[in-house]
Amino acid sequence: MSQAVAAAKAVQGGRLPLDTIMVGDCIAALKTLPDKSVDLVFADPPYNLQLGGELTRPDQSRVAGVDDAWDKFASFEAYDKFSRAWLAECRRILKPTGTLWVIGSYHNIFRVGAALQDLGFWILNDIIWRKSNPMPNFRGTRFTNAHETLIWASPTQEASGYTFNYEAMKTLNEGLQMRSDWLIPLCTGGERLKGDDGAKAHPTQKPEALLHRVILAASKPGDVVVDPFFGTGTTGAVAKKLGRHFIGMERDPGYIKAARERLRQVVPAAAEDVAIAKTKREEVRIPFGQVIERGLLEPGMKLYDPSRRHAARVRADGSLSVDGATGSIHQIGAHVQNLPACNGWTFWHFLVDGKLKPIDILRQQIRAELESPPPPPPSAVVPLPVRRGKDLSHNRR
Ligand SMILES: C[S@@+](CC[C@H](N)C(=O)[O-])C[C@H]1O[C@@H](n2cnc3c(N)ncnc32)[C@H](O)[C@@H]1O
Repeated sequence: MSQAVAAAKAVQGGRLPLDTIMVGDCIAALKTLPDKSVDLVFADPPYNLQLGGELTRPDQSRVAGVDDAWDKFASFEAYDKFSRAWLAECRRILKPTGTLWVIGSYHNIFRVGAALQDLGFWILNDIIWRKSNPMPNFRGTRFTNAHETLIWASPTQEASGYTFNYEAMKTLNEGLQMRSDWLIPLCTGGERLKGDDGAKAHPTQKPEALLHRVILAASKPGDVVVDPFFGTGTTGAVAKKLGRHFIGMERDPGYIKAARERLRQVVPAAAEDVAIAKTKREEVRIPFGQVIERGLLEPGMKLYDPSRRHAARVRADGSLSVDGATGSIHQIGAHVQNLPACNGWTFWHFLVDGKLKPIDILRQQIRAELESPPPPPPSAVVPLPVRRGKDLSHNRR
C-alpha cells in the first residue's frame, strides 16, 4: 500500500496519518485532520519574495533565488487570504497544550504575524535565526540580509501547559538559559539535498540544527508534529530522529520524492537518549525535615557553608539555629550571609570523613528512593549509603 493510500485510509478511519506525507494542497489536507489532535505545528510557508528581475553575482553568475511558482502570489491580499486559511486550520487541529512555529523573512513574517494574532493565536516568543553564513548583498545597496524570524505561539492567550523543555534548552546551551537569538549556519554541505544534476533539490531547505532546537524545545517524545509546507522533509527527518511522529504536507512531487528518500535513511535515536529530563518544578518536593525524619542527619549535628565561615545546628523539626536565630535552611542561609535569599540545599554542607558534602545529595538520595521500583523483600534491603549517625558523630557539639 502506498504512503498516500495509507494516509487516506488513516484519515477515513478517524486516525491521524502518522509518519506520512499528505500529497496536495496543505489547506485541503489540514481540513481532514480532527480538531485538537496534534501537539506541534512547524510551518515554513512561501515567502512571497516578489523578486523583480534576475540577481547576479559580481562575476555575472546567476544567484539561485526563490523564483518558483509556489512562492508567487498575485497580491498581498491574496497572500494574506492564503495565510489566514492555513493558520486557521492549524489553530483548529492544535491541542490546547500545543504550539505553532512559523518561520519567515521580512517579506512575509510581519503579515503572517498579524494574521495569526487576528486569528487568536498568542505569541510566546519571536526568535531570530541569525545565519552564520548568509548570502552577501551583491549589489551593495542594502544591509546583508542575515536572519530570519520564527514566531512561537499558542492557540489562545489562555492556553496553559504548553510544552517548553526549559531544562533541555539550558543544557543544550551549556547551562545558560537559552536566548531568543540563535546563531545557526544555513543548510550546506552533505546535509543539502541535491538532484541527479547536482543542483539543489530545494531552494529553501532548512538546516536540521534549527529544527532540532525547535522540536527539542516544544515537544515530547511520541508527540505529533505537523509541517504543512514539508519541502524536503527537514521537520520529518528531525522529528523521526528525536522519537516524535510527523505529518508532512507538500504538493510538489519532486520535493516529496526527495523527502521520502531522506526519511527512509533516518535512524531514530534510542528512547532513553531522547527522554526529557524532569524540570526542577516536576521533581518531587522533599522538605529538609524529611532528611531528619529519615535519620540521614540527626538533631544537634552541625552544618557548614562551603568556606566553613558559618556553622548552624540541626533541629528535630527540620529547622536550623545559629546564634539564637531559628529558621529554614534557606532563611538561616540568607541570615548568616545578610542576603535576601539563599538556596539552603546548596549552601549548607555536612562533614563526611573530614570532607564537606552539600545536603542536596541527601535530598537526591530520598528522591531516588521514592522514584525507584517497589523495595525488595526485607532480607535483601541494602542500607542507605549515609547511615544514622555514621561518619557524622564528630560534628556534634
Ligand atoms: C519554504 S518551502 C519549505 C522548505 C522546507 N522547510 C525544507 O526544509 O525543505 C515551502 C514549501 O511549501 C510548498 N507549498 C507551497 N504552497 C503549498 C500548499 N498550498 N500546499 C502544500 N505545499 C505547499 C512548496 O512546494 C515548498 O516546498
